[in-house]
Amino acid sequence: MKPLGKLRLGVNIDHVATVRNARGSAYPDPVRAAKLAEEAGADGITAHLREDRRHISDADIERLATELSLPLNFEMAATDEMQAIALRHRPHAVCIVPEKREERTTEGGLDVAREENRLAHFIAPLADAGCRVSIFIAADAKQVEAAARIGASVVELHTGAYCDFHAEERLAERDAELARLREMAALAHGLGLEVHAGHGLTYDTVEPVAAMPEVMELNIGHFLIGEAIFRGLDPAIAEMRRLMDAARAA
Ligand code: PXP
Repeated sequence: MKPLGKLRLGVNIDHVATVRNARGSAYPDPVRAAKLAEEAGADGITAHLREDRRHISDADIERLATELSLPLNFEMAATDEMQAIALRHRPHAVCIVPEKREERTTEGGLDVAREENRLAHFIAPLADAGCRVSIFIAADAKQVEAAARIGASVVELHTGAYCDFHAEERLAERDAELARLREMAALAHGLGLEVHAGHGLTYDTVEPVAAMPEVMELNIGHFLIGEAIFRGLDPAIAEMRRLMDAARAA
């Protein structure tokens, strides 16, 4: 199967804010990073406003919503507070993620199957306000099918397990997870969902995911912001773009 279209790169700028917040200063500015990312070839900007505001702040979201020309993908937990913020700013996309205070990062996908009814009601006003609603899930048929039933437009497949297995050199498990991601991308597309993927992706792990024909967008943050320390944000993003495009063309 040929790729369904151009693969978009969403750059997640959360960890520019992490560095800023480490010193309580005004710099480095995540909005400046977002503008540089656009010049470097990003197709969108992703920012996660966490309940504890550990990186992105309300003021960052306000500025991203007004100053960016790229589409904003607003990541948030399914809470009333976040819904109200999303409805105020009406970003291009809203990605619903699970959130636990004690976790270092978003550890797993959302259990849509368990919360189907609540989530269906939760996302309806967001979709009515014109936001593309995306649901961040593990590569699991039960979750893909539930995401389709609640009326989401997009599923973002969690690539964290695949990337962890790769880093730990557990290659059989990595390949099994990759096969599951491939299968779930096809299932989701067949159910009429647009397919995105992300979490933990690096130069070493991006290509097999970028090559999945149904995947239309990758959201990548932590690795790119880290790599930017060594080569600068523009070259770090440009190299990711090159690898994505090469995998897509192969
Ligand atoms: N997609 C989603 C839904 C996420 O929650 C995150 C992390 O905030 C990412 C993508 C990006 O992950 P990473 O920072 O590991 O590249």
